[in-house]
Amino acid sequence: MSLEFFTEAFQDDRLLWFLNRGTGVILLVLMTLSVVLGVLSTVRASSAIWPRFVTQRLHRNISLLSVALLIAHAAMAIVDSFVSIHWWDAIIPFVGSYDPLWLGLGTLATDFIIITVLTGLSRTRFGSRTWRTIHLTSYLGWGAGLVHGFEIGTDSRETWSIAVSVLCVGAVAGALAIRLGTLGAERRMERRSPAGSRRRVRAGERAR
Ligand code: HEM
Repeated sequence: MSLEFFTEAFQDDRLLWFLNRGTGVILLVLMTLSVVLGVLSTVRASSAIWPRFVTQRLHRNISLLSVALLIAHAAMAIVDSFVSIHWWDAIIPFVGSYDPLWLGLGTLATDFIIITVLTGLSRTRFGSRTWRTIHLTSYLGWGAGLVHGFEIGTDSRETWSIAVSVLCVGAVAGALAIRLGTLGAERRMERRSPAGSRRRVRAGERAR
């Protein structure tokens, strides 16, 4: 394929628009997968044929793939001359002139995702509590991306697109329910363990 082919392709607004919509939907699915795999790795779900490190690697690689797709998705919107979206609209939320609220939510999602992925890659630089708190923003990023797509997308009211969104919401809600369930169990185990009761006694002594 010649360079001319690509130059012409990227000047075709309809193709860019199509690619923007396509990458948007795939991005949502990948981000959902990444969130679900992240949750499964924290609940330590594993088996002989599916060891935990496979879940962790997949979570990491799908997150990185999502970032690449996110860059492509935003780039299509910026290059498309049919709409006025600037490069800074992909970084600073709610400042653009094109559908500022719903595009801004996409930008906010992007910022959350970039923060999550960058801090995820440099985990050892943070204390575990700080790191976890930052990593929890991935839920906000996923939610903001979902609402952005639903409100701004051309195809988002099509039956197939609604089905994709519902499946994504169901998958994340299910993963969250599992996580909250294991958190409850972890707290109960901690309360019952001798180390847990020692911690409570010390906390009680400090409070006096
Ligand atoms: C995590 C971040 C993001 C996610 C998950 C996401 C996802 C989506 C989805 C699912 C759609 C709907 C496609 C359709 O059904 O037609 C969409 C549309 C769109 N997105 Fe994003 N997006 C994100 C970030 C961004 C950013 C940063 C920009 C640009 C600065 C952007 C620009 C657009 C535009 C212009 C559309 C509308 C396309 C149309 O007219 O149909 N998105 N996005």
